[in-house]
Parts: sequence; structure tokens; C-alpha cells
Amino acid sequence: MTRTPTPAQRHAELEEKIARWNEAYHGQDNPEVSDAEYDNARLELVMLERRHPELKQKDGVSSQVGATPNPAFGKVKHRAPMLSLDNVFNEDEFAQFISRIGRFLGLDEAQTDGLKFVAEPKIDGLSISLTYENGTLTVATTRGDGTTGEDVTANVRTISTIPQTLPAPFPELLEIRGEIFMSRAEFLALNQQQEKRGEKPFANPRNAAAGSLRQLDASVTARRPLGLFAYGLGYNTGVTVTTHLEWLEQLKKWGFTVNPLSRAISHASDVPAYVESLAKERPDLDYDIDGIVFKIDVIDLQTRLGFVGRAPRWAIAWKFPAEQAITRLNDIEIQVGRTGALTPVAHLEPINVGGVIVSRATLHNEDEIRRLDVRPGDLVRIQRAGDVIPQVLGVVEDERPDRAEPFHFPDHCPVCHAHAERIGEEAVRRCSGGLTCPAQTVERLIHFVSRKAFDIDGLGERSIRSFYELGLVQRPGDIFRLHEHRERLQKLEGWGPQSVDKLLQAIDDRRTISLPRFIYALGIRRIGERNAQLLARHYQTFSTWHGAMLAAIETGSEERAALSAIMGIGPAIAEEVAAFFAEEHNRDALDDLTPSLTINEETGPVTDDEGSAPLSGQIMVFTGSLTTMSRAEAKAIAERLGAQVTDSVSRRTTLVVLGEKAGSKAQKAHELNIRTLNEAEWRTMAGLPEAS
Ligand code: IVH
Repeated sequence: MTRTPTPAQRHAELEEKIARWNEAYHGQDNPEVSDAEYDNARLELVMLERRHPELKQKDGVSSQVGATPNPAFGKVKHRAPMLSLDNVFNEDEFAQFISRIGRFLGLDEAQTDGLKFVAEPKIDGLSISLTYENGTLTVATTRGDGTTGEDVTANVRTISTIPQTLPAPFPELLEIRGEIFMSRAEFLALNQQQEKRGEKPFANPRNAAAGSLRQLDASVTARRPLGLFAYGLGYNTGVTVTTHLEWLEQLKKWGFTVNPLSRAISHASDVPAYVESLAKERPDLDYDIDGIVFKIDVIDLQTRLGFVGRAPRWAIAWKFPAEQAITRLNDIEIQVGRTGALTPVAHLEPINVGGVIVSRATLHNEDEIRRLDVRPGDLVRIQRAGDVIPQVLGVVEDERPDRAEPFHFPDHCPVCHAHAERIGEEAVRRCSGGLTCPAQTVERLIHFVSRKAFDIDGLGERSIRSFYELGLVQRPGDIFRLHEHRERLQKLEGWGPQSVDKLLQAIDDRRTISLPRFIYALGIRRIGERNAQLLARHYQTFSTWHGAMLAAIETGSEERAALSAIMGIGPAIAEEVAAFFAEEHNRDALDDLTPSLTINEETGPVTDDEGSAPLSGQIMVFTGSLTTMSRAEAKAIAERLGAQVTDSVSRRTTLVVLGEKAGSKAQKAHELNIRTLNEAEWRTMAGLPEAS
């Protein structure tokens, strides 16, 4: 029997799911779900919060746009926020948008229809803000969470079509907004190169553009052909245009590329015809678009209309349906991932879906195959929604070949043959072989050297596979002992003295690593970049983290409670981390690896670095025994709120929480005239419910 979750449980589930999807989409440029599934979950969350406002959290996912910036890049606060657009999908919804504007401005029907718009293709890339000071490009940032973005200036400087300086006249300070994209042709060429180098191909041009722009090494961006369509204006000191069309003209004069399909629309009733004509052109364009943006042309009207929540009231995106095609399913391959998940991949007769050749698509999991009753040999309908891996939508049943047999999902790992099981309510079947399964081992090694982890130049997927097969690299520590095999390496096909030296140098260059990268590299389930960062900031040094994690293996331990209490971690993720450390293989692999490395301490603020965390600046001591939580949990909560927690009371201390039988520290706090709180007051300060 399945129980209906309480609103609070459902809220927590949605928050967790959306945060994970955000991380996959923005943090790893690797979407996990379709737009529709994401939008539905987000909508459910917003509606739930409307019914239960008490569930809404200040920094909850419902109030975020995009993802928090990647800590590896510098952060830049946008002078004017970078917002999002509301969507419509058909004429009715567009008509509602128009009447909302008419009502807001107090216009009659004829006046409403007379509103002038500018229509621009909605480019499926990633948005960028370019700051020009006295006509010179000084900063370029991604959208990030809408308020703060990542500093990608060095990378943007490598894009030749973006002007470094503007011809006069220009205002002293100017932010230009636009969309960075990769053309379909360049995307295909890049993916061919990726495959040749044994690297994972990108799912679509948007991900390729995002992955190329968000490179820590700008010389990599320079080798990736990116373009920009400029469309918007951010903060500025004195741009004097009166219409959006004039603004687009101004952008062209400064040397920006404005999308040539942008059009003036003189009556709202002309919109559907424009949508239809652009939808027809869409498959032949050399870049992906996922809709059309309609913007009120007159800037004064834009100003009057203003914004609601995350989006302007004066603009709307009319989204196109995802591009679809029908092709033959040749085979279903079961891939084994780093965490043992068996993922079915459809091998397709290659087909052009809106300008991109697709030969593989995801089938998600066992239940999906059963739901679709998809069989090798079937004709299948596939979809390439701008930003996810192509998906199989269904079978063309009338065309089923007589011999097509139902697909039996294996209950054993296709690689190591260990039993593959489904645990609890998970839809995924996992190989139980752990590190005895070569597929999982190799995937973990590939993850270990990947770009966001150790990022070892010249050690891609293909070399890892061949070194693994030759027995040269079985676990991460072996990578740092490869120099012992220099001669053998030099004799391998495709290698020579120079390339081996280069590889060994690249490995040496990575013997020093930051703590978040190191934690991420271990490939612990559910520890992506963001969670690795949270752990690193909390524990600060490898040895503190390592010690705490060994202690956290035990379910009821203080360290487990403290780990769960870290904002953004929670009990489910804490359990995954504990499960990793509970495996002897993993502990041994770590002990084998760490002597080869210098893992830098992660100093820096515990929560946000704007100084706006509620307890930031406080130096706290907990003394005596607390009755409603452990000391470790109290410490974690205080740190999460921005405080620094120390063991002893000194002149620097600003707050002391007194538990039962507080002794000499309480005395000292009184002597030094330091503010003290009892446990109930502490709970109130931390925003926790009153203890019953
Ligand atoms: S205007 C406040 N115009 O779509 C107005 N956005 O879903 C914000 N986009 O974040 C955007 N083409 O990344 C605008 N011609 C266009 C666009 C465009 C693509 C993207 C942009 C934005 C997202 C909103």
C-alpha cells in the first residue's frame, strides 16, 4: 500500500528533486529530465506553497532562477537582475497575455490590438551579460541564479564576434544581454572530435555551448566556435532609445549580431501568422530555437508594465513543441553507470531531427520500456527537446514487424553478471557488483579524471579504458604511479615518448587539488559538484572530513547527525556518503590515493559570502548539555546560519549557548559580559520550532 505523503513531505521531495535537476542541468550541463517534467514539478511546488505558505523557504528552489554559480568561477553580482520569461504554448494563452497587458495599461480592445511588438527567435543557448565600461568590455557573466552569475570574462574574450570595444558614442556604463549559442554544424563537428578523442559527446548544441563557455581554461573555449545574438539591455547610465527596435539598431551599430529574423509586429493579431512561418523555418535554421519572444516595443510601456516575480510583464515566450521524428529502433543496449545503474539506450537508424543527426536516445529505465512496450525492430517516434538527451516517445504500432519480440530487461549486470536489483521504490535496477564490476570501476575512474574532478589533460575515457584493460590502472591511486610504467606506456599503440611525458606531467600537475574537487572526484552517489562544495566548506580539511565520515558510518552517531544537518545535505544524502565509507574497498582506495596528493584546505565562508547569513560574524560557543539536539547538530545549524563555532570562550566570543549543567564557560561568559542564550532562546534564534 502506498501512503499519500503529507504536504510537508511532498514539499521536501519536490525541493530535493528540483534542486538535483537544477544541479544536473546548470551545474553539470547534463539534463536529467525533460523540460515538461521539470516544469510540472516546479508548478506543483509553487501551487503547494500557495496552499501552504509556511512551507516556502527563503532560499527554496521556487524562488531561484537557474542554478547557483559554480564556485570554481569567480562570482559577479548583476547590476540589474537577469530574469526569466513566462511561457505560452498556443493562441489562447497568447491572447490572455495580451489582454493582461491591456487591462494593466487601461486600454480598450482596439488599443490593445494596436500594441506594437518586436518578435525575436528564442535562441536555445545560454544567456550572458556583458559589461562595457567607457566602451570597453570589462566583465562577462552567466546568468547563474539571476542575481549573481559566474565570471566568464576570459572565455568570452575568445569569441571573435563579440566586440571588445564599442565605437563612440556609448554610455559610461552599459550591460548588454544576449544568448551564446553553438551552430548545429559546429555542434556536429565538435561531437565527432569528442568521439574521436574517446570523450563523451554533448547531448545537444545548448549543452555543447554551455560546456564550452564554462571551461576553466579559456584556451579550450577559444577552440570551440561560439556565437552571440544580442537582444537586451541591463543596467546602464543613459541609453536614450525609446523603442526596442531602436535598441536593436543601436546594438548593430556597436558591432553586435542581432538575429536577422527579428521582426516588428504592428498588431497583436499578426502574431499567430509569424509564429507559424517561423515554425516552418525552424528545421532549416543553423541554430536551435525553442520558441519566439514577443516584447512590447515602446520602452515607456515596458517600464510601466514592470515585472511579476521572475519575469517581465511586457514580454512572453511562445514556446514551440519539441522536434520529433520517426525512425527504426535497431537495438537496446544496457549501459552500466558509475553507481551501477543499468540504463537502457536506444540505438536508432540515424535520423535528422530538426537539423541534428540523432542515432541514440534514452529509454530511461525498465518501467519505461514496459510502459512503451518498445521492441528492437520497431519504428519509434523520438523527440529532441532542445535541452535533454533525445527520448523515445512511443512505438508506431501498425508498423511493428512480425518478428519483434518483447524486450526482457536483464536481472543480471551485462558486464560482471552480478545480480541486478531494484531497491525500495527506485525505478532503477542496479548491478550489485560494486567495485568488483569492471563497468562500475571504469566509469568511476573516468569520472575521477573528468573535467570537473581531477581534469587530467590527455587522460580521457579512451585511455582510462585501455589502461584499465592492461591492468595499469585499477583504482585512482594507480594513476599517480603511472610514471613507474613509463617504458611500457611508451610502447603502447598511439603513445610515444613525448606524449607519455606530457601525460605524466599533466598527472603531476594535478597532485595538488582543492577539497571540493577531490570530494566530487570520488563519485559518491548524489555528491555532485554542489554537494561536494557544501561538504568541503563545512569540514574545511580533508582530514577533518575523512575522520567525520568514518565516524558517520554509524547510523545514530553524532557525526551522522551533523552531516545530515548541513544545509542542502539532509539524511538521504548523508546515508549515501556513509554507505560509501562503509565499503572497505572505498576506504582502502582512499588510503591508497591520498599519500600521493596535497589536498588544499577549503577556507572561506561557511554559508553565503554576501555577509547576509543571519548569524554571520557571530563567534559562538555551546556549553553544557543540550536536551533537544546534540552538540554536533547545534554546531552544524549555527554554521549553516553563518556563525563560527569555537570550543572555548574568549574575548572574541559573541554568543554563548548554555545547556544544562553549564560550568566554567558560563562563568567566563558572564565575566566577559558576553551575551548568553538558553536552549529555548537558541532554538528561536535558529528559527527552529519550540521543543515539545
Ligand atoms: S529576453 C527580461 N530575448 O530565454 C527578459 N531572452 O526563458 C529576459 N532567450 O534567460 C530575456 N532568446 O536566456 C530574451 N531573444 C531573446 C531570447 C531570450 C533566448 C533566453 C534567455 C532567457 C530565457 C528565458
